[in-house]
Amino acid sequence: MKRGFLILVLLAGLPSGVWAKDGQAVFDAACAACHFKQRDPARRDEMVAPPMEMMAVHVRDAVGGQRDAFVARVVDFVKAPAESKAVDAMAVSRFGLMPAIGDSFPELTDDDLRLVAHWMFDTFAQAQLPPEEQRRGQRP
Ligand code: HEC
Repeated sequence: MKRGFLILVLLAGLPSGVWAKDGQAVFDAACAACHFKQRDPARRDEMVAPPMEMMAVHVRDAVGGQRDAFVARVVDFVKAPAESKAVDAMAVSRFGLMPAIGDSFPELTDDDLRLVAHWMFDTFAQAQLPPEEQRRGQRP
């Protein structure tokens, strides 16, 4: 996993044409270095961050399903993550706080981040938390 991440970082340093201007491309090139797109129980041990789908559902719930608020919140968080802003305290305790995106991918612009946030909103519009996460709040 570490090596895969390094290769992605190196690729991201290539000339600017690397960033095709759509949200999925930004996800593939940057976010996917850490986040799986969806849950993949078979590869649970390889995860260094929660699946993007799960984060999208948590953020969507936190902002009451509003697209603009969703996008603003995602962009703000990835630029300056903080435990006090995080929607999933369990994710923070399991994986540690996300590093600021600028530390890993300084070439990403605010537009790139907005694109990927819109892509998340659309792609995971119907996604739900898995049953074990829904029950989480009820555990003793
Ligand atoms: C270096 C690894 C890494 C990269 C790269 C990364 N993330 Fe994260 N991200 C994490 C980890 C770990 C967490 C879980 C802990 C937390 O919430 O800070 C997280 C959490 C999140 C959350 C939840 C935020 C919240 O409100 O609680 C969002 C949204 C997110 N990432 C979006 C992105 C997007 C979009 C990208 C690409 C532009 C990205 N991440 C790239 C590691 C990463």
